[in-house]
Amino acid sequence: MLTGKTAIITGANRGIGLATVEVFAEQGAAIWACARKQSDEFEYKLREIANSNAVSITPVYFDVTEEIAVKDTVKMIGKNSKSIDILVNNAGISMERLFSMTSVKMIREAMEVNFLSQMFLSQLISRYMMKAKYGSIVNVASVAGMESEQGGIAYGSSKAAVIFSTRTMALELGSYGIRVNSVSPGFIETDMWKGRSKEVKEKILSETPLGRQGTPREVANAILFLASDMSSYITRQNIVIDGGRKSGGGLRELV
Ligand code: NAI
Repeated sequence: MLTGKTAIITGANRGIGLATVEVFAEQGAAIWACARKQSDEFEYKLREIANSNAVSITPVYFDVTEEIAVKDTVKMIGKNSKSIDILVNNAGISMERLFSMTSVKMIREAMEVNFLSQMFLSQLISRYMMKAKYGSIVNVASVAGMESEQGGIAYGSSKAAVIFSTRTMALELGSYGIRVNSVSPGFIETDMWKGRSKEVKEKILSETPLGRQGTPREVANAILFLASDMSSYITRQNIVIDGGRKSGGGLRELV
């Protein structure tokens, strides 16, 4: 499905990002796997995935909020790839704090990592895609950006900005053959849920028709669909991957 395509995936060292690397490699993509810090374990894992799928996967390291490092990396990727066809903006951080307890600093951090970094990287990469008149950008948002929940002021606002900006980018880039979509995962088994109380997890499961957490691979499959030509007439959309949860209400541990 992705043979001959080159993809950039951020937050590729674990969770949804690593599952996306695996799923894209299985479909034949050449991958630039972005992580914040060098790690032998990560590089070993990438070699394993690359060898078993006979594709090229190159690790690159930068903090998504460091504009100079991002720019330099994109330049290097541009020089070393015949095209940049797919960008998956996946890196993100989560946080929960009631509105009255949330500092502006915290909101700024959520905005910088989850939203502004996606904007910046998309701007740089879309220039290559505009020249090629081809590309697919997939932004990882969240159901937290669609439904307000207690404690979600910083994280939810940053993800709402991702969903909104995805739609605007799709409007502006469509005439260049670039599609822009987002995915909004719900309750997915990754490090992001480490340390959360049993009560919160049980509450979410009780509201989820499928009655279980989603896996990173289930999110990666939706990202694959949006990244590939299987979705060639789909742009400006947000696909929800949450087991059909009827959400809202609150995170009781905070109140
Ligand atoms: P995770 O915590 O395992 O992965 C987050 C990734 O982002 C890590 O690779 C981390 O190193 C990277 N990252 C964070 N800050 C960074 C920075 N400043 N520079 C470079 N990389 C940075 O969690 P998960 O679940 O895999 O998260 C991936 C995306 O999915 C995030 O955008 C998250 O908000 C979103 N998401 C996750 C949900 C879940 O239930 N796990 C639900 C909804 C959305």
